[in-house]
Amino acid sequence: MATTTSSTSSKEQLTTTQISPNQPDAFQGTPSYTVPGLTIEQGAAAAAALQRILNTYNDLHLTLKHVHWNVVGPNFISVHEMIDPQVETIRGYADDVAERIATLGSSPQGTPGALVEQRDWDDYSIGRAGAIEHLAALDAVYVGVIQSIRKAAEETEELDDVTNDLLIGHLHEIEQFHWFVRAHLENAGGVLSTTGETTEKGSAKAATS
Ligand SMILES: [Fe+2]
Repeated sequence: MATTTSSTSSKEQLTTTQISPNQPDAFQGTPSYTVPGLTIEQGAAAAAALQRILNTYNDLHLTLKHVHWNVVGPNFISVHEMIDPQVETIRGYADDVAERIATLGSSPQGTPGALVEQRDWDDYSIGRAGAIEHLAALDAVYVGVIQSIRKAAEETEELDDVTNDLLIGHLHEIEQFHWFVRAHLENAGGVLSTTGETTEKGSAKAATS
């Protein structure tokens, strides 16, 4: 997955209240109920913010598995094995977010078609490659993911404390995962080899040149 801030997709964006032909019939847009203490509109707005994060997490755990399978060369096993706990955690976070959407009275969209239709970033752009190339690309991925979660947390700060708390809780571990990745790209002076790069391929090139 590319960073969410470097969209190159030309397709029109759908909001979570628009029904796409690829989305299940059960998706109704505006919910008929939500949690006590929120208006229907507040519940729908929190669910919409969460749907973007559900898409982010579903894309991220698939992308991490892709890296797990495609990393080659020196340091293969350390990166291969470092990735799986991240996959498991992010899959669990996707479940947390999807169930919060349902709790808020909306329908979480978890199908591959809905993900591809709603996301505003491209597929992860690196196939079989060395450990440093993938780690540099994952640095760019995690920057986009963390920016998206922080944005959703800000959007829900005044809207729904529970949703905001859920997202802030996820950031604790996701920012640590980002550090695990970045530690491989940092020199003894504390400088990242990916500094100034915002794309996966640009970061991979910078880290290996
Ligand atoms: Fe495996």
